[in-house]
Amino acid sequence: MTDATAFVRSSWYVAASLDEVSGKLLARTILNEPIVIFRTLNGEVGALEDRCCHRGAPLSLGEAVADGIRCGYHGLEFGTSGICSFVPGQPNIPSRARVRSYPVAVKGDYVWIWMGDPATADTCSIIDYPVDDKVNWPRIHDVLHLKASYVMVLENLMDLSHLSYLHKNSIGSSSEDSANANMDVSRTPDGMRFLRIMRDADAPATWQKRYKIGAKVDRWSDFEYVAPCFIKQYSGGVRAGEYDQGVREGGHQVRTLHAITPETETSCFYFFNKADGYAKYEPADLVRTWASTTDVFKEDAFMLEQQQLRLKGYDTSKLVNIKSDVARVQMIRALQERIRRDQEQLASGQ
Ligand code: FES
Ligand SMILES: [Fe+2]
Repeated sequence: MTDATAFVRSSWYVAASLDEVSGKLLARTILNEPIVIFRTLNGEVGALEDRCCHRGAPLSLGEAVADGIRCGYHGLEFGTSGICSFVPGQPNIPSRARVRSYPVAVKGDYVWIWMGDPATADTCSIIDYPVDDKVNWPRIHDVLHLKASYVMVLENLMDLSHLSYLHKNSIGSSSEDSANANMDVSRTPDGMRFLRIMRDADAPATWQKRYKIGAKVDRWSDFEYVAPCFIKQYSGGVRAGEYDQGVREGGHQVRTLHAITPETETSCFYFFNKADGYAKYEPADLVRTWASTTDVFKEDAFMLEQQQLRLKGYDTSKLVNIKSDVARVQMIRALQERIRRDQEQLASGQ
C-alpha cells in the first residue's frame, strides 16, 4: 500500500507567487528540502539549495546580485545554475563550489519549481489556469501556510459536504440541501473530476448580499483534480430552476486554481487563485478586498491543523467512510497511482 503522505517528485509545484519574490530572497522548504527562491538584479528567477557550500549558511540570508545571489556570511556568489562565480580574495574557484539548483519557470502569477530529475523538467506540463483565462476575469491570489498534510487539503476540497457545517455562516447551504446534492464522479487521465449540483437550495448569506438571484438557487461545483497537487474549480450559482435551462451567468461564478505544495509530511503551502465572473456586473472602480475568500479558507486551515494534531500517530485505517466521501476516495486512488508511478520511475532511474 502506497503511503498517501509520500511526495511525488516528478512534478511542477508552485514555489511562490511572483509578489513573494519581488525585492527579497524567499526561504521556503519544499518536499523537506530547504530552498531559496529569488530574482537576480537582472530579473532572472532562480531556486537554489538554501545552504551555502562554504560553511553551510542559509543563502536566503544573503542578497541578490546582478546574475545570482551572494552569501551573507563570507560573500561567495552563485549564479542561478548553482555554480559559484565569485570567491572574495581568490581568483581560482574550487570546482566543487556549487549548490544544487532547481529548474524554475514563471507562469501566470507564480514561480514554478520542478522537484524531480532536472533532465526531465518540461514546462509544457505546468497546469493551465484559470481554466478559462481568455475571459480575463479579475483575479486574486493568496497563500496559507498550514501545519497539515497536503493530502488533507486535497481531501477537504473533495468533500464539499463540509460547507454546510464548517462554512455555515459564510458560503454553505443548509445541511438538507447538502445531503440532497447530486454527485457525478469520474476518472480522468490525470486524476478525477466531480460535478456536484444542488438544485433549489438556500442561497448562502454572502451570496444574498452580493448577487440579485434571490433566496433559492441552483448551485454547481465542478472540481477537476490533477495529480499530485492541483484542483481546478469551476463553481457558480443562479436562480433556482435556471441551471437546467443552461443559465450560468448573472450570479456567483468563480474559477479557482488550488495548488498545494508540500513543505513536510505534516505541513504545506496552500496557494489559491480565484477569478471572479460576477465582477463584470459591478462598477469597474469598485474597491474589492477579496478578504472574505481568505477568511473562508482560514476556517478550513484551522480545522485541518486540529485534525492533523488529532491524527498524529493514529492508525487512519480505523477512520470510517461515509457517502459524501465518494470523490475523496477516488482522489486518493488517483494520488496513490501517481505516487506509485513516480516511485517506479525513480527506481528505474528515468
Ligand atoms: S558560509 Fe557562505 S560564504 Fe561562507
Ligand atoms: Fe472549505
